[in-house]
Amino acid sequence: MSVPPRLRTARTLIRLAEEADAAKLLRYRVENAEHLAAWEPLRECHFFTLDHCLQSIAEGRETARLDRGYPLAVFSPDEETMLATMNFANIVRGAFQACHLGYGIAASEQGQGLMHEVLLSGLGWAFGDLGLHRVMANYLPRNQRSERLLQRLGFEREGYAKRYLQIAGVWEDHVLTAKVVAA
Ligand SMILES: CC(C)(COP(=O)(O)OP(=O)(O)OC[C@H]1O[C@@H](n2cnc3c(N)ncnc32)[C@H](O)[C@@H]1OP(=O)(O)O)[C@@H](O)C(=O)NCCC(=O)NCCS
Repeated sequence: MSVPPRLRTARTLIRLAEEADAAKLLRYRVENAEHLAAWEPLRECHFFTLDHCLQSIAEGRETARLDRGYPLAVFSPDEETMLATMNFANIVRGAFQACHLGYGIAASEQGQGLMHEVLLSGLGWAFGDLGLHRVMANYLPRNQRSERLLQRLGFEREGYAKRYLQIAGVWEDHVLTAKVVAA
């Protein structure tokens, strides 16, 4: 079993959310609902409630306990505000040692290199303490911000999957990329 991280970067603190963070998570979801809607699955009304945030936090902690994934929350250094999310999901061990990476940042924090700072730190942990060999990240062909971010982080294009994920209610093609630990 791996230990969930507590990572500090110049402008953030990254860790699993806990029950006491539920109101911060709710605020993040509500304030960024419009900003994130085009890039995420459809959200039901219940998603924007404190109950659902508490449930997500509990599920996330259980997923981490089982080493199946680490849905990390990114906070301001004083931990008062949630700024972004970074999810190392669908971990497969054995001969694969791989996961999928998901992420998003508050609209107010975009365009400052903050997501890059967070992912750089998260990937260091994933390839280090977490012991992964491969991290896969996939994006909508029109998501240019995501494409630029992944390129700068050294992800390489591996393919193109048709009708791969249901985003905003539509099965969308995705560009498949991955970063593999240096040999
Ligand atoms: C994808 C997403 C995370 C990218 O966020 P971002 O802020 O553009 O990403 P970065 O942290 O790499 O920042 C890059 C920008 O910061 C600018 N920047 C400012 N200071 C910087 C610094 N010190 N270092 C690096 N970049 C800096 C860059 O010039 C660039 O701006 P530009 O794109 O306007 O040229 C964000 O758009 C998002 O949350 N989108 C919605 C959810 C989503 O799409 N998730 C991914 C699904 S695949």
